Amino acid sequence: MASYLVTGGCGFIGVNLVSRLVAQGQRVRALDNLSLGTPQDLDPGAELIVGDIRDSAAVAKAAHGMEIVVHLAAHTRVVESVSDPQLNFEINAAGTLNVLRAAAAAGAQKFIFASTGGAIVGEQELPVHEGMVPCPKSPYGASKLAGEAYCSAFCGSFGLNTVALRFSNVYGTYSHHKGSVIAQLFKHLIDGEPLVIYGDGRQTRDFLYVNDLIDAVLLAAKANVPGQVFQIATGRETSLTDLVALMREVVGHQLNVQYQPPRAGEVFRNYASIAKARNVLGYEPRTSLREGLHLTWEWFSSRSDEPVLPHA
Ligand SMILES: NC(=O)c1ccc[n+]([C@@H]2O[C@H](COP(=O)([O-])OP(=O)(O)OC[C@H]3O[C@@H](n4cnc5c(N)ncnc54)[C@H](O)[C@@H]3O)[C@@H](O)[C@H]2O)c1
Repeated sequence: MASYLVTGGCGFIGVNLVSRLVAQGQRVRALDNLSLGTPQDLDPGAELIVGDIRDSAAVAKAAHGMEIVVHLAAHTRVVESVSDPQLNFEINAAGTLNVLRAAAAAGAQKFIFASTGGAIVGEQELPVHEGMVPCPKSPYGASKLAGEAYCSAFCGSFGLNTVALRFSNVYGTYSHHKGSVIAQLFKHLIDGEPLVIYGDGRQTRDFLYVNDLIDAVLLAAKANVPGQVFQIATGRETSLTDLVALMREVVGHQLNVQYQPPRAGEVFRNYASIAKARNVLGYEPRTSLREGLHLTWEWFSSRSDEPVLPHA
């Protein structure tokens, strides 16, 4: 049994990760300021410390005695990072520095950093991979790149065994509060509202089911890859038009889609090569997009009190 601190443990990826760790019999502590996360979603087998990663004392308390730190807490919204880059910096760059310092001081054996794929690399020839020179288009991407840089520095200067995982577009259960495309589309569907797509639908993403992402986090926790960066994705490119067509099949009726102008800071096309994660970590995503959408839709529908009415 190992002890895990999961920052952002009440968020979408956090609650899924914490449940898996608790099911494995690990000791788990979550640190979350509950700005977006929901404590009711947290597995009761985990301990919760309510606190902010910008608060050094709270982070030190949370890191005390923990062997593995998975740092998920972040300001995650690309569009809001454009309107308030300072707040984004304070949480994602300065906050990450705080968590790294606390992990190093607590003698943690491993530090896993939730980084991001497309937002760091920017518009580049696809698929994106770890060897590309980063060129973030948004303050969110810049702050995650700063986090990666501090992970590398803490590995180099303090011997902290860090690894940065560049997640692609993750979707799945417990994503009800997310602004990401699949969560938004399912929420609008539940609320009987039109599905809004920013752009013409030809933009692409690499959609990764949350359970597959957690496999990668657990593999990274075991691997000895100090200071390294990995793309964690499916390696498949899906346009939003194709995504909506698949969602239509999954929900079993027509969908009312509205197109609005593209939003600042978002890349147009994105998917990632997972060759390095496959070769070094033994990572293999197992869930097809159809299956993942089905599981996610089942979860969203089960939370909804109202019957889901087909759109005209
Ligand atoms: N979901 C994705 O598609 C995706 C893609 C790439 C990277 N990531 C990264 O993965 C991580 C987890 O993302 P998520 O989708 O679960 O996001 P989320 O917003 O659901 O979870 C983040 C959690 O962090 C908490 N939090 C926010 N600011 C905090 C602070 N200052 N102090 C303490 N807690 C704070 C929130 O309350 C929330 O529970 C983030 O670092 C995000 O940038 C996610």
